[in-house]
Amino acid sequence: MNILLIGANSAIATAVARLYASDGHGLFLVGRDLAKLETLRDDLTVRGAGGVALVELDITHTARHTELIERAQTALGGIDLAIICHGVLPDQQICERDFTALQASLDVNVISTMSLLVELGNYFEKQGSGSLAVITSVAGDRGRRSNYVYGASKAMISTFLEGLRGRLHDSGVNVIDIRPGLVDSPMTRELEKGPLFSTPDRVARCIVKGIRKNRTTLYAPGYWRFVMLVVKAIPQRLFKRLRF
Ligand SMILES: NC(=O)c1ccc[n+]([C@@H]2O[C@H](COP(=O)([O-])OP(=O)(O)OC[C@H]3O[C@@H](n4cnc5c(N)ncnc54)[C@H](OP(=O)(O)O)[C@@H]3O)[C@@H](O)[C@H]2O)c1
Repeated sequence: MNILLIGANSAIATAVARLYASDGHGLFLVGRDLAKLETLRDDLTVRGAGGVALVELDITHTARHTELIERAQTALGGIDLAIICHGVLPDQQICERDFTALQASLDVNVISTMSLLVELGNYFEKQGSGSLAVITSVAGDRGRRSNYVYGASKAMISTFLEGLRGRLHDSGVNVIDIRPGLVDSPMTRELEKGPLFSTPDRVARCIVKGIRKNRTTLYAPGYWRFVMLVVKAIPQRLFKRLRF
């Protein structure tokens, strides 16, 4: 299988890449830190990947997305699976005072992702096959006072994916919304770790298994589906009083 991995330097993406590499799949890595990408390429090659190519790109440069997909297609000889992993967790309190900071986070989490989904959706539709997976978050399931800017950005992508899934269904293309819970990665460096935290390796195993089984919405690890069922059931009159 030929895999395009966007945001490849993310802790979760790197763990996913290692699993696919050890099964001999080919990978095209996209990230904004070239040295880290090259180190990852060498690591994946040693693990048995069937060829690894890479491109350095700040993903907010949406004007380069068409060229990016063409390069991946040429390097891999076709794309079977694209996984979009990049993202930022903005400081909620800064975003409440500074719209520029809020907008910058939307450029990464929403605008660049939608631009890629337009390109990749059309690519897979034309091909008549393929899987398109995006890491969103359980944070998109409800707007919590402590991180509703990040949550809203992920909810926007989840809704977009639901519509895209319907559009591409008849073309034989699977669209997967991956919703991790709390993961111990550089993104959550500042957060105090508790029992609900998982590791990038565990989340990566859920992702690879879910993609293989053609899941549509994938909570990772699976217990988050039940946690979020409870959170989603909390009535608004109570939810607005919760301090989390
Ligand atoms: N950690 C969690 O608890 C958690 C929970 C739910 C969902 N998620 C989602 O999971 C995904 C992966 O996150 P992670 O936990 O693996 O965190 P991470 O290691 O911090 O990964 C985030 C990645 O996004 C990349 N990125 C940010 N802005 C970019 C830009 N403008 N251009 C290119 N790349 C950019 C970062 O690149 P650099 O390495 O160059 O900074 C980094 O590699 C994200 O979408 C995140 O929102 C994470």
